[in-house]
Amino acid sequence: MENRSLVTIAEHSKEKILYLLEMAKQFEKNPNRKILDGKVVATLFFEPSTRTRLSFETAVNRLGGRIIGFSDAATTSSSKGESLKDTIMMVSNYADLIVMRHYLEGAARYASEVAPVPIINAGDGANQHPSQTMLDLYTIYQTQGTLENLNIFLVGDLKYGRTVHSLLMAMRHFNPTFHFIAPEELKMPEEYKIYCRQHGIKYIEHTDFTEETIGDADILYMTRVQRERFTDLMEYERVKDVYILRNKMLEHTRPNLRILHPLPRVNEIAYDVDSNEKAYYFQQARNGLFARQAIICDVLGITLDEIKE
Ligand code: CP
Repeated sequence: MENRSLVTIAEHSKEKILYLLEMAKQFEKNPNRKILDGKVVATLFFEPSTRTRLSFETAVNRLGGRIIGFSDAATTSSSKGESLKDTIMMVSNYADLIVMRHYLEGAARYASEVAPVPIINAGDGANQHPSQTMLDLYTIYQTQGTLENLNIFLVGDLKYGRTVHSLLMAMRHFNPTFHFIAPEELKMPEEYKIYCRQHGIKYIEHTDFTEETIGDADILYMTRVQRERFTDLMEYERVKDVYILRNKMLEHTRPNLRILHPLPRVNEIAYDVDSNEKAYYFQQARNGLFARQAIICDVLGITLDEIKE
């Protein structure tokens, strides 16, 4: 049987990405459709989440399906030593689809290989976050009117931030110019820079984060320094507030600039930015509902034709 899991966005063609964005657009028009009647979706979150879990669960609820799952693995038998494989096999007995966040890189791939039902990767360690990327692409398209030829600035923790890793892979289809702004300790890992070179993706690296550096940005994608990935908390303390976006830095930026952030934010966007019309991170999070409705339908084999009204 075809494995319809979503493990990494790198497996999606340009056509597939555009198809899912069209599906998300249909769901934005009307997110309440009873097309998952009789379906059970499991959300297994081995790491904390607000947006991803709740938007997946809202997506299922609005489509008429049912939800089972957990948001704290300490309450499950994995705390008694049950393996990930056994957990996945058990939950596959109960659910038609599993949405899983796990702290180990590669956990989603492994789950997709052992599970008889599709897996959606809701974040695996510092590796990938493909459903976030679909909502990011939807938001970029919504704000810029295109995905092509954009200047995209990724700022902050580019080492551990899984959202930026997925986003750059997806953007390979759309001729972007990336600017990677990170301190030495949190630079974009070599493997992703190799990926850029292999796929003809242009990138420029910076350590300065100033008004001048961001002057020609179309998208400014801020990220949180991922405290939970550091083995040395002293190092986290050294870099945690390295870049803070303040409203006054936006005065001379492009009119079409939009500021995105996968959230949660800690300190990297000052609150005075929130009222700037270029701030778009809360609308971006809202788009998570529509993008995830599209992903759920796709992995369950429900087509765009079936959802068009
Ligand atoms: N963007 C994101 O993954 O947020 P959560 O950790 O709250 O799910």
